[in-house]
Amino acid sequence: MEADVSGPAPIAPDQLARTLAPFGKARMLPRAAYVSEDVLAWEREHFFDGTWVCAGRADLVAQPGGQLGTRIGSTGVLLMRGNDNRLRAFANICRHRGHELLACGASTTRGAVVCPYHGWSYELDGSLRHAPRTGDVPNIIESEFGLVPLAVDTWAGWVFVNVDGKAAPLAEHIGGFAEIAANWECERLAVGATHHYELNANWKVAIENYHECYHCPLIHPELSRVSPPESGDNVDDVSGAFVGGSMVLAPHAATMSIDGRSQGVPLPGLTDEQRREVMYINVFPNLLVSLHPDLVMTHRIEPLTPTTSRVECQWLFDPAAIAGPDFDPSYAVDFWDLTNRQDWAAVESVQRGINSPKFVPGVFTESEDAVYHFATMVASAYAGQPLARRSVVEA
Ligand code: FES
Ligand SMILES: [Fe+2]
Repeated sequence: MEADVSGPAPIAPDQLARTLAPFGKARMLPRAAYVSEDVLAWEREHFFDGTWVCAGRADLVAQPGGQLGTRIGSTGVLLMRGNDNRLRAFANICRHRGHELLACGASTTRGAVVCPYHGWSYELDGSLRHAPRTGDVPNIIESEFGLVPLAVDTWAGWVFVNVDGKAAPLAEHIGGFAEIAANWECERLAVGATHHYELNANWKVAIENYHECYHCPLIHPELSRVSPPESGDNVDDVSGAFVGGSMVLAPHAATMSIDGRSQGVPLPGLTDEQRREVMYINVFPNLLVSLHPDLVMTHRIEPLTPTTSRVECQWLFDPAAIAGPDFDPSYAVDFWDLTNRQDWAAVESVQRGINSPKFVPGVFTESEDAVYHFATMVASAYAGQPLARRSVVEA
């Protein structure tokens, strides 16, 4: 039986009220948020189908005919670039009997979409091209059997899909983050490396961990040497569905690497201040964007089950750096892979704690204001209110 996902999330309102209390008095999200199948079903409907979810870089389907199978929320998605160079998204479902048109994670470039089951084919704009050997079946009306279109848009070189088609425009979702990120010119950057991870943790445990460096002195000795854990400020701008803030680089460090040295090139549009810090921002729900002086790292998080998640981590560089004869992204990739693994060990341990019925939601310390921002954004939506974080200043 499918869970009832209309209305508020299946969590007791008094538990949500504890999370939505003023900063200093508030408690973490209730246990069900991290372990319940029903809550994840609700989140798929409201967060992953109901808002703009990042599906990766737009250059995954760079050429006309480019096609990519992926998954957003409840739905397989086919991303496709037409001969008119327009990027479109469709439900990855054949209109004959429902076979997937392209396996999730697969990509191809061809002039049409061809279903591997009985060979129905579709134009790059989603319209039915040909249904072979249908004999005298009279009701194959091409205009009725096009692929089901989904809302899609791009921002800064990333593709976003809104499965239910009811979200406000993407620009409203990104809000003030567009201005914060503008100088990095992310649309210009190219992927230099990609890692995949699977975590035994709820997707929100990974994001909450991202939003604080209270843990850094204990589990990230390498990171703490190049960026003081207590440095930086979180962003107060509440326009848009994003949460996060800055951390400052240590005086000897040009970027986040073991020795603080960069083997890339500084991004040309940054201010002097932006060259001395890293911004860590979560574009709700699934994209973490870490803006460095010489690169942009992203984590794209997908819930698999209430207690498991998949993460794609990418490092984006100036194309001029990648084109250099000796370019080697490992200074950044190895540093962050080490840091990622330190984080995953912690979040998996947290999940094991939460899995116990003896778990009781804890508090937000002073340095966990961004975790509070994130948790209140989630809790307000759980409670049936608009997706909006609580300010710590109102407390
Ligand atoms: S299900 Fe696609 S052609 Fe039959
Ligand atoms: Fe960490």
